[in-house]
Amino acid sequence: MTQHEDIFKKIVSHCKEYGFIYASSEIYDGLSAVYDYGPYGVELKNNIKSYWWKAMVQLNENIVGLDSAIFMHPKIWKASGHVDAFNDPLVDNKDSKKRYRADTLIEDAIAKIEAKAEKEIQKAKARFGESFDEDLYRTTNPRVVEYLSKAREINERMNSSLTNSNMEELKQIIIDLEIADPDSGSRNWTEVRQFNLMFNTQLGNISGEEGKLYLRPETAQGIFVNFLNVQKTTRQKIPFGIAQIGKAFRNEIVARQFIFRMREFEQMEMQFFVKPGTELDWYEYWKEKRKKWHLALGTPESKINFHNHENLAHYANAAVDIQYEFPFGFKELEGIHSRTNFDLKSHQELSGKKMQYFDAEDNDSYIPYVVETSIGCDRMFLAVLSEAYCEEFVPDAEGGEAQRIVLKLHPALAPIKCAVLPLLKNKPELVEKAKQIMSELTSTFYCVYDDKDAIGRRYRRQDALGTPYCITIDFESLENNSVTIRDRDTLAQERVNIKDIEGIIQNKVSWKNLL
Ligand code: GAP
Repeated sequence: MTQHEDIFKKIVSHCKEYGFIYASSEIYDGLSAVYDYGPYGVELKNNIKSYWWKAMVQLNENIVGLDSAIFMHPKIWKASGHVDAFNDPLVDNKDSKKRYRADTLIEDAIAKIEAKAEKEIQKAKARFGESFDEDLYRTTNPRVVEYLSKAREINERMNSSLTNSNMEELKQIIIDLEIADPDSGSRNWTEVRQFNLMFNTQLGNISGEEGKLYLRPETAQGIFVNFLNVQKTTRQKIPFGIAQIGKAFRNEIVARQFIFRMREFEQMEMQFFVKPGTELDWYEYWKEKRKKWHLALGTPESKINFHNHENLAHYANAAVDIQYEFPFGFKELEGIHSRTNFDLKSHQELSGKKMQYFDAEDNDSYIPYVVETSIGCDRMFLAVLSEAYCEEFVPDAEGGEAQRIVLKLHPALAPIKCAVLPLLKNKPELVEKAKQIMSELTSTFYCVYDDKDAIGRRYRRQDALGTPYCITIDFESLENNSVTIRDRDTLAQERVNIKDIEGIIQNKVSWKNLL
């Protein structure tokens, strides 16, 4: 197991042990790729949503919010292209009966070939030392050149098969590369076929296709079909945006890596409606603005990447992923898409209702173009946790060192803002004072009271939950109304007057520090 895989495993078990995330339906052995958020998980998730909502809606006069229903008229998914084209290519292994995404199998095979090239390069690096010219070696060493060009060639073949929906060619690549089932080693594959990712259900009072309802695979369509309602009722002028946070559902074939790819998840999406011809400028604007939102949390710039899409979706004229370096590598965290006027135009055609905007300045009517920002709330949760999780040694009470696990979450995102801890639980005067402080703080921010175990263990528990501040009520508190505030990251303890606690902590956990 690599160090990164090890950290990832630890994060997953930390989530369960400390009440952040549980597997859904656990007593029935769980439901694959579905998860429940526990008491501290729901607080952190709500704070992530607040950060997004404040930054996107409340700080922008020209962006308004929406909460559309999960169920929508089935024609919406016809117009959006999801009924016909929201597919993944799947292949079954006839012996193991396991189902895989054909493109994922091929991508894994490409990664193996690239790893061989990488191994050669590392060997040469060790052999030649300082004088080694890696770029030159990559382009001249025959074995490395062969591996890398083979990987490129397969990648191009796969991309072109995906773009042209050529399932026979995908199967042929699997055969040519002699790809075996990673589980059983069998090469006995079925044909590759398209698998629609939308879940569906049936309306109670209408039978057959007419009554078929889909669980939305993205929240965006709820925004498109309400575009004119919102524009008219809020009297927004183009350019303006509509934002919403809500559940989305996808019947993912390969659901793995914990909450990275789920079947039920939450999206935070914003559609920005602009004048045709200006969309690529706005696309650049939103790319930068969204990157800044991520960096404001303290994430190092080296862990955030832009990755341009090679295969543009049918509706897009530009698209980029904002990738984060998860413990399992750089992966998509958010998508920024220039969606042209595809969605509004399709809805206009299928519904027969005009989706046009009258631009009073230009005395012109047009269907706006759209730039979308779309981020998975759960994926952001995983990125935030991955960045925050830290194992380190700190001084202990006996003058030695103790290991602690600490979540170095931004204080504004932390589930619990402060813990109120009487030094000893068998001293009623300390307990009474601590409870008094607790009752004064709880209406301002989420605090917890804890008097179990020795103080050191209680600090460790709050560190593991990411609580940025611990207030300790000791004997001096009884004499002069002062307490200590312990800082999670620096471990510094500051003595302050009880009447100042609320203001001090409020200042430290304020959204203003982020926005
Ligand atoms: N409206 C555009 C759209 O839905 P997408 O790239 O398919 O675009 C946007 O999804 C974001 O939603 C992704 O960047 C990711 O953060 C999140 N997401 C997509 N599928 C997901 C899944 N199965 N589980 C968790 N998050 C997912």
